[in-house]
Amino acid sequence: MCGIVGYTGKSAAAPVVVEGLRRLEYRGYDSAGVAVHTGRGMEVVRALGKLGKLSEALAERPLAGNVGIGHTRWATHGRPSEENAHPHVVGKVAVVHNGIIENHRELAHELIAAGARFSSDTDTEVIAHLVQQALEDGARTLHEAVRRALGRVVGAYAIAVLGTDEPDVIVAARHGSPLVIGFGEGEMLCGSDISALLSHTRDMVFLEDGDVAELRPGGATITTVSGEPVSRATKRIEWSATMAERGGYKHFMLKEIHEQPDAIASTLRGRVDLEASDVHASEIGVTPEVARAIRRVYIVACGTSYHAGLVAKYWLESLAKLPTVIELASEVANRDAMFFEDDLVVAVSQSGETFDTLGAVKAAKRAGAKVLAVANVLESAIPRLADGTLYTRCGPEIGVASTKCFTAQLASLLLLAVYLGRRRGTLGEAIAGEVLKALVAVPGHMHELLGDADYVRSIATTLANAKDVLFLGRGHNYPIALEGALKLKEISYAHAEGYAAGEMKHGPIALIDAELPVVVIAPKDATYDKMVGNVAEVRARDGRVLALATKGDEAMHDLATHIIWLPEAPSWVLPLLTVVPLQLLAYYVAARKGHDVDQPRNLAKTVTVE
Ligand code: M6R
Repeated sequence: MCGIVGYTGKSAAAPVVVEGLRRLEYRGYDSAGVAVHTGRGMEVVRALGKLGKLSEALAERPLAGNVGIGHTRWATHGRPSEENAHPHVVGKVAVVHNGIIENHRELAHELIAAGARFSSDTDTEVIAHLVQQALEDGARTLHEAVRRALGRVVGAYAIAVLGTDEPDVIVAARHGSPLVIGFGEGEMLCGSDISALLSHTRDMVFLEDGDVAELRPGGATITTVSGEPVSRATKRIEWSATMAERGGYKHFMLKEIHEQPDAIASTLRGRVDLEASDVHASEIGVTPEVARAIRRVYIVACGTSYHAGLVAKYWLESLAKLPTVIELASEVANRDAMFFEDDLVVAVSQSGETFDTLGAVKAAKRAGAKVLAVANVLESAIPRLADGTLYTRCGPEIGVASTKCFTAQLASLLLLAVYLGRRRGTLGEAIAGEVLKALVAVPGHMHELLGDADYVRSIATTLANAKDVLFLGRGHNYPIALEGALKLKEISYAHAEGYAAGEMKHGPIALIDAELPVVVIAPKDATYDKMVGNVAEVRARDGRVLALATKGDEAMHDLATHIIWLPEAPSWVLPLLTVVPLQLLAYYVAARKGHDVDQPRNLAKTVTVE
């Protein structure tokens, strides 16, 4: 994970770099550091803890200079500490790195045998030693030294390197970890993602694996690791810097929950054709012939994105009549997963960078399957590898707990099911029209749900002291039970479990007592009658039930201990609605406990390690 930023230009580098790191802090936040070229040499400030600690350290020891690199860390090799924080400095070289150097032990042994002394436990430090060694061995430029060093390393990296002898240069390179360079007015930047650069420029180049770029204030030259020049197209990015601000909300997560009506509208824009009861999505590259030739959909994803995939299975099977397999991407690598040429492999990932999902995509590609990405971050690794991408288009999501991207993934996957169903001839105009009309009405229903946020906050007090919480749902509400539980556990640190309500009698009912809150998702849909039965069983054992039920459901009102009302909506779109109060519930429980909601302990937004 980790975030890196580099700046060379006319402004003071340290504040620009720290500001960029602030926007990347979602990638890791256990320590941070900055190195600046002062004109006479390099100076480094590093601090254990969140970025605020680095800012405090910089206030005490300001770094003056117009060229700098910085890093915010999520520890992989070496515990979080000041010594292990980046940048790592060796001789005339400072390096920041995101990724994992797989052969770092062999390289470190070799370097130590040659007299090198290591001052950290990180894999990154070998890069700094190798670059320094290349300079000592006669490399004429920092760019050449970095290329020589990279010729030795195996693994994944995005790096930015400063050298004492070239005061206005940053060398940036990538292989397997994301890195984008930005072209400002008389200034150049690099960063792990576009949000770090947006307040300076919207003109960006996404480096490819194997690219090594030399940045000077006036521009960039890019070569391969072996030195052949390469040319990369500059892209103009439509996101704005303010999209990545909190906009008056206490936390990004709360802002992102409230952004959902707009996020869904943006996902649907230009794709829904109500007149033709059809979906426009030529960007996914699935022609009617391809759609008809698909024998199976195979969804791979992790975490919240996996839950979106679980819901999509219901839609793909009923609307497109496609057998759908869904698997945790992290499990694909643990067995001989079988992909076929007539599979459509759908990789769902907010970041587009998740290591396990990327690995599953590579396995699917090797087997000749067609891969479709459903992703939010433009030009990220999974879309770049996929044959087509359905972008969720919901703007940057900063809170570690995914919210608006989840509902935008659901909207995208429902569009996909309609798109495939129409092309395969399994979905008639009438039902397609109903589904699409229901989708278009979702933002309005979400506004209604969000209008009840204060009520959800008051209910959250009843869960604030719970150590365990059980979430129950059936059918398409079952993945929402899983998602409700994941949201609660990742930010409130309470143990929460999602269960298919039909499984209650096979074990979890033993847990029910007056202490265990049970959250039940029971809208008026095909699962409703059975859910009433489940609620009765819980109440008969003195269990406390918080029910999500459709407005006007008197029976559920009488049965449940607390109730959150849902708007009436067609069954197709209920998962996009039932999840909203659960997101709010998790948020208010965690906020009440005083937790750092946007950066929960031990987590990072983008999981680029196995
Ligand atoms: O970027 P991705 O969608 O691939 O990320 C997958 C999971 O890491 C992510 O959904 C994680 O579970 C979130 N923290 C959930 O809120």
